[in-house]
Amino acid sequence: MEIKKVGVVGCGIMGSGIAQVCAQSGYQVVVSEVNDELLNKGLSSISSFLTKGIERGKLSQQDKDSTLARIKGTTNIQDFGDCDMGIEAIIEDMDSKKKIFAELDKICPNHAILATNTSSLSVIDIAGATTRLDKVVGMHFFNPVPIMRLLELVKTIATSDETLETANNFSKSLGKSVIIAKDTPGFIVNRVLVPALNEAVALYWEGIADRDDIDKAIKLGLNWPMGPLMLLDYIGADTALSIAEVLEEGIGPKFHPPTGLKQMVRANLLGRKTGKGFYDWTETK
Ligand code: CAA
Repeated sequence: MEIKKVGVVGCGIMGSGIAQVCAQSGYQVVVSEVNDELLNKGLSSISSFLTKGIERGKLSQQDKDSTLARIKGTTNIQDFGDCDMGIEAIIEDMDSKKKIFAELDKICPNHAILATNTSSLSVIDIAGATTRLDKVVGMHFFNPVPIMRLLELVKTIATSDETLETANNFSKSLGKSVIIAKDTPGFIVNRVLVPALNEAVALYWEGIADRDDIDKAIKLGLNWPMGPLMLLDYIGADTALSIAEVLEEGIGPKFHPPTGLKQMVRANLLGRKTGKGFYDWTETK
């Protein structure tokens, strides 16, 4: 099956990045948000990422213009009626995802593949909201989507070989390196990452070392591009907490999130998205 048009639900950090890489790879894209304010915010973040790319000599003004011309923003999901692929990138909430999948199932053509960008939730549970279980996959992108090379492709027990092959070829056409994982909590990356982030938070709250030394230790000792506390701010404490909870429930108590992480979520210290987490992001904003 040839994919020409992609619909992306959600134009937040992940959705805008996904819409951008699809458009940069030559696909027609329609990206939806719940209101004009969020839509415009997402579209302008794509535009400024592309502008920075020009400044870095990574692309030309013409590349930017043609990429933006391939993206149509909408607040009406009915505009997904001619999409060959629908990618959901909304909040990590099962009921909200099921609702979107039920809608996409009604709106998208019968041949369309429906993908979720969930970072930990059960893909087959989400697929259960549709009448096309064989055409549903997980496509887990990493933040920042235009820069990170990996894509985790998640196959459920119902995903057909044909769907997996099409989704794999599509992911590769976006310039991503693909790994295939079974539909289990956290797939591969988050199953390894979450315990490390939990431990970094625990070290901080136990007062074993200060923020900068924890991040410096892992940056220099393990060659991570950023320390775990900064990465947590980057991912969002709420997202990290919800992934840890899914892993704890699905696999076991070793993924139990530290109290400090829960407290940060309650205090709205979510990181970049609220301006404050382990770091103060208000100036960089
Ligand atoms: N346009 C085009 N290219 C750009 C660009 C732009 N606007 N901005 C940066 N780049 C390119 C740079 O040119 C550079 O490419 P080269 O290596 O070819 O030179 C590359 O991107 C990196 O740029 P920088 O080195 O300048 O950026 P940086 O040092 O500030 O690094 C970072 C930024 C890539 C975010 C890095 O800090 C990093 O990798 N951090 C970790 C991110 C991470 O772990 N993400 C995964 C989070 S987990 C997740 O997402 C999943 C989940 O479920 C929670």
